Amino acid sequence: MSLSDTARSKKLKRDLPMVQTRTYSLLPVLAAICYPLLLDLFHAAIGPPEAQLSASGILAATLILACVLAVPALGVFFAARTSASTSARRLAFACVAAPTIYVFLGVLQAMAGSALPDELVWCVFWLAVGVWTWSRPGTQPDGQPKANIARWRITHGITGAIVFIYVGFHIINHLFGLIGPQAHAEVMDLGRKIYRAPLVEPLLVALMLFQATSGLYLAWRWSASPLDFHKTFQVASGVYLSMFIVGHMNSVFLYARTVRHIPTDWAFATGAPTGLIHDAWNIRLVPHYLLGVFLVLAHLGSGLRTVLIAHGFTRIAANRAWIGCTLAGAVIAIAILIGMCGGRIAAL
Ligand code: HEM
Repeated sequence: MSLSDTARSKKLKRDLPMVQTRTYSLLPVLAAICYPLLLDLFHAAIGPPEAQLSASGILAATLILACVLAVPALGVFFAARTSASTSARRLAFACVAAPTIYVFLGVLQAMAGSALPDELVWCVFWLAVGVWTWSRPGTQPDGQPKANIARWRITHGITGAIVFIYVGFHIINHLFGLIGPQAHAEVMDLGRKIYRAPLVEPLLVALMLFQATSGLYLAWRWSASPLDFHKTFQVASGVYLSMFIVGHMNSVFLYARTVRHIPTDWAFATGAPTGLIHDAWNIRLVPHYLLGVFLVLAHLGSGLRTVLIAHGFTRIAANRAWIGCTLAGAVIAIAILIGMCGGRIAAL
């Protein structure tokens, strides 16, 4: 073996683990690419409206829905890996938002009158993102975010508390769907007197967009370094919500009210007349809304945990507060989706 052969084999031994690590970090992208396929399987397992689901059919649909939700969960898992490079961590955070980005993409495609299937555009998008990330050299963590994001964090927290006045009402409003569309509409009509007032609505939209952009900026800064589980969850939920807010504003204000001139009421939210789960397009709204409601409450819990620790509460007490918000988020999100899919309290 010549000297240059030895040097080459040493370099190969050095580079191979790096290439393997970078390839491994593409797993969340692979999961994101499969996301529409999993939704199609979920839709097929549910079957047409007239089909009576057997016990095994319900089990199959539940398992497939768990796989659908495993896509963002895998993103959180990969983002939490301490060995991940900065670009791999950011890619994993982006994959967490796959359910809401897929809805956004579908609405943009409809607005553009595109004949291309959403699945095709989706695959090309994630392949491009994956190749771009893979080809980037693995950047080293640059330590904790600099102190100069402290003001952004405080401002983001304060505006978050303000917009939660609306979001809290909005979530309670959707819970009224469990009583029926009429009850939902009555509560919404009451709320609209305030949040649709000429001065309030533009302010609300501006605050929501500020929340989304400042959240993305903070996520970008935090994701430059390895994070513990709680911080990873806070950043992941924030990335999801930022994309959710931008897509949701686009659906309500541009797609429905400006382009299609349709009322943004119960029928719009639940994809009437076919509904959420029996329509091949609408089915994507199930994980999108489920995670939107769950993560907004869990993200609030993450913020509350940080504030409690900063004010001298024990970590155990702060963690309990976070767990409480997260569990409440899960229960409320499931209840809202049951109502949106036709479940009624009177029928229970
Ligand atoms: C099940 C989940 C959700 C559904 C079905 C839903 C549906 C809707 C509908 C139908 C509207 C139009 C309201 C109207 O015309 O008065 C709306 C508006 C809005 N939603 Fe949601 N939403 C959900 C969750 C969320 C979440 C989690 C947020 C915040 C992170 C949010 C933020 C907003 C905002 C800011 C508006 C605009 C209010 C306005 O009309 O001025 N939504 N949503």
